[in-house]
Amino acid sequence: MHLNKLVSLSAILIGSVLMLSSCQKETTAVNYTASEYEELSKSVNLPGELYNYTVDAPAFINTGSFFSIDPSQLNRANHTATLGRVLFYDELLSRNGTVSCGSCHVQTSGFAHNEALSEGFDGETTVRNSLALGTTAMGLTTSYGSSNGGAALAGFSWDDSIHSMEEQTQAAIENPAEMGMTMKDMVERVKSISYYDILFRKAFGEDEINEENLLAAITQFVNAISSNESKFDEGMNQTLDVNKDFANFTVAENLGKSLYNSNCASCHGAQHDFTVKAVANNGLDEVYADQGKGAVSGFSSDMGVFKVPFLRNIGLSGPYMHDGRFASLEEVVDFYSNQVKNHDNLSFELKANNGQAKQMNFSESEKVALVAYLETLTDEEMIKDDKFADPFGK
Ligand code: HEC
Ligand code: HEC
Repeated sequence: MHLNKLVSLSAILIGSVLMLSSCQKETTAVNYTASEYEELSKSVNLPGELYNYTVDAPAFINTGSFFSIDPSQLNRANHTATLGRVLFYDELLSRNGTVSCGSCHVQTSGFAHNEALSEGFDGETTVRNSLALGTTAMGLTTSYGSSNGGAALAGFSWDDSIHSMEEQTQAAIENPAEMGMTMKDMVERVKSISYYDILFRKAFGEDEINEENLLAAITQFVNAISSNESKFDEGMNQTLDVNKDFANFTVAENLGKSLYNSNCASCHGAQHDFTVKAVANNGLDEVYADQGKGAVSGFSSDMGVFKVPFLRNIGLSGPYMHDGRFASLEEVVDFYSNQVKNHDNLSFELKANNGQAKQMNFSESEKVALVAYLETLTDEEMIKDDKFADPFGK
């Protein structure tokens, strides 16, 4: 191993040991004064002892130092994520007090929305299907678009056009079909709500309520949403080789895994940690109504090209594709089996040797196996974890 790598690896290891010992201390501390807690409890249902928002990625995923939090900052970071959680679910933050981030990113749906298009504050619908959040073990979808800049990874949104979590949050707040606010309105609104006084002070000290802190808090919360306890992760943790059969899988799930690894992993990634391709055309149509990345860049090679989505919690996050055209995973598998279209930009992974769209022609039992495998990516813990739940108790 290269020396630099070794040095940074041991720094990570030491860092995580420190983090672990300090988490245990922090979570036993009481985090609010009695009067603060009484005031907060009138409106929001928060625990008196902070939840720990540290991301515990499984060992098979190398997260580098990206998610490590300086132990001396952990209490602050947990307060920031707690504030982010309240902001994420607060309907008062949309123009007419009717929608929050949580309206279109629903915990039990893997933080996606079970509608093809979602209604914003005034009933107008979004242009595309809501994307799942926290769909990787380390929250990669919601972080790599930003400062960490992983080269092969997509930015945010189906058209790959947004490059940081803060930018994505601001876009949702300001989108006339989503929350319909301006950042300035948002800051004024937050200043007028009493519980934010306490929550901002805990997270940012005496720093005032401002745009930057508001976006930072939502980012801290969304980045903490991470899926890493699915049946797939359990199998990976035991076997440490994605190409071997997993002992905790049924025969069908293992068959599905091997079909997936040979037909799908070249884009979506075998370990569900990184997508191999950032964006691609997967031949949904010969002529696209929505050109995706092409509508932004104007390049003919980007027409019909969309972000390659992560598939964690895919069993919960339907309907599927950028326009939500497929209601079920069975329909998705039928599509890949023999309905891929010969679009000019169809990605080579989906072409046969003759240059035409590949006919995977799965048998009925192979289709069942693929769906069974995709369902092993559901993380039952994440979707019922109280630290990610709506604190307004709806
Ligand atoms: C009215 C529904 C709606 C609301 C409200 C909403 N979103 Fe979204 N969100 C969407 C849709 C639709 C997309 C996909 C947009 C696209 O690709 O054009 C999306 C995409 C995202 C993504 C990109 C995920 C990825 O992997 O690329 C993130 C992150 C996100 N939203 C976070 C938020 C946050 C934070 C809030 C609150 C400030 C919020 N959203 C409010 C519907 C909504
Ligand atoms: C060429 C790369 C590529 C390959 C190979 C590929 N996909 Fe996809 N997949 C994509 C892209 C791009 C999208 C988004 C397309 C869109 O919405 O326009 C997508 C979307 C999906 C979705 C919907 C995700 C969501 O959140 O709505 C599922 C499920 C899926 N693929 C499963 C599979 C399976 C199963 C296979 C193998 C049989 C496979 N994919 C092979 C690129 C690929």
